Amino acid sequence: MSQATPTRPSPTVLVVGATGRFAGLVVPALVERGARVRALIRNPERASSARHRGASEIAIGDLRDRPSLVRAMEGIDGVFHIGPAFVPDEAELGVTLVEVAKQAGVRKFVFSSVIQPTNTQLPNHTAKIPVETALFRSGMEYTILQPANFFQNIEGAWRTVMTDGTFGEPFPVTSRVTRVDYRDVAEVAALALTDDRLAYGTFELCATEKLNRKEIATLMSQALGRRIEATAPDFETWAERAALPYDREQQRLLANVHAHYADHGSGGNDLVLRSILGRPPRSLKAYIQELAQRADT
Ligand SMILES: NC(=O)c1ccc[n+]([C@@H]2O[C@H](COP(=O)([O-])OP(=O)(O)OC[C@H]3O[C@@H](n4cnc5c(N)ncnc54)[C@H](OP(=O)(O)O)[C@@H]3O)[C@@H](O)[C@H]2O)c1
Repeated sequence: MSQATPTRPSPTVLVVGATGRFAGLVVPALVERGARVRALIRNPERASSARHRGASEIAIGDLRDRPSLVRAMEGIDGVFHIGPAFVPDEAELGVTLVEVAKQAGVRKFVFSSVIQPTNTQLPNHTAKIPVETALFRSGMEYTILQPANFFQNIEGAWRTVMTDGTFGEPFPVTSRVTRVDYRDVAEVAALALTDDRLAYGTFELCATEKLNRKEIATLMSQALGRRIEATAPDFETWAERAALPYDREQQRLLANVHAHYADHGSGGNDLVLRSILGRPPRSLKAYIQELAQRADT
């Protein structure tokens, strides 16, 4: 394996999903570390949203349109990729992007994968394996991030918390699930793309606590100064309320993740994230306090 090549002072980084809930957090983290961001977006009408986050260039393209990726990759030093959730061709899309990046002479590729990609009970996890393998074979410098369940998913439930006084997810209130603030993941991604310290690393990224929903509802009650009850609606009721942008098959895969949480919870360890950041990972308590303060304003 080649040594990590020194990172250019202001690399130009192509960010896939730059207008999305998660990759959108990587854009400002990169800009803060001196990178120039080119946002890969499908809908030109969303260009202003990407620019608002700090992107200085826009490439209109689609992961299913290879020529658009070839154009987007011109003059790029680094790529950040997060695959769309629960789509049947997720692996193929990621592998194609790796190939195009390699052909374009991209130096560094950061892939936001998932915790436990080898968990064969979860097809949306194993879908990451071909992309990771393509990176191992690519000759490019890579960093693979394997984050736990995102704190930011809770934002989707926040309206119900405020209106009904309940926090529901379709698995038992006592199941313990490891989570992580995607802003911490974004910080690690930005570090990986602007510094060679994380070169050729694969990193499981988790917050410290592994709370169940009863404990999370208690944090919500404390932050809001009123009682929030933890509930466990059935998947159909929950999905309808959440208005997920998913078709039936995508919902089936998500229900499968929740069934796994019901049976086994979800483990994870914070040591790596703590070590990379040089500080404790952001806590769920602080995240919930932020949501509560936003509701006040
Ligand atoms: N949610 C969690 O707790 C969690 C935890 C660990 C790992 N993950 C993984 O993280 C990933 C995040 O999924 P998400 O979809 O929920 O995130 P998201 O933030 O909604 O990102 C999806 C982004 O990808 C873009 N996109 C979708 N299809 C595209 C295409 N064909 N070409 C170009 N861009 C495309 C979307 O663009 P538009 O703006 O144009 O729609 C959107 O900006 C999944 O792979 C999931 O397995 C999730």
